[in-house]
Amino acid sequence: MRILVLNGPNLNLLGRREPDVYGNVSLKGLASELMLVAPDDVELTFVQSNHEGALLDALHEAFDYEGVIFNAGAYTHTSIALRDAIAAISAPVVEVHISNVHARESFRHESKLAAVCLGVISGFGLTSYTLALHALIEHWRNRHD
Ligand code: DQA
Repeated sequence: MRILVLNGPNLNLLGRREPDVYGNVSLKGLASELMLVAPDDVELTFVQSNHEGALLDALHEAFDYEGVIFNAGAYTHTSIALRDAIAAISAPVVEVHISNVHARESFRHESKLAAVCLGVISGFGLTSYTLALHALIEHWRNRHD
């Protein structure tokens, strides 16, 4: 199983950025944690970019992957281009957020992406990513058993 873990703008600053909201584990730390919990038959690819176009390219490259875990950061709330890319590819995408976006400013309550994603996980810190990984594995197993 190939799974892309895609992180958008400002998430390269994880661990240093607003630690009261996003915690103090770095993006590298997150990657190590995910690699530790992923079963042997899951191949994880990690991409982070602050640029919308690079995120689009990464989604296109994962066209027929078995899953994408996507934290689009602030683009979640604005990007129709990313929504169209998620709808275009055949890989199921799980939208993740570290913080509970619904408990924050009202502009974070709307997601342009959620409706074309398999599901949304928000508010569990870095555990949001491990939950998404388990959700994608279950989804894949349910379709192939
Ligand atoms: C975020 C929530 C977004 O609203 C914000 O713009 C981010 C991070 C999260 O993981 O909680 O950059 O996606």
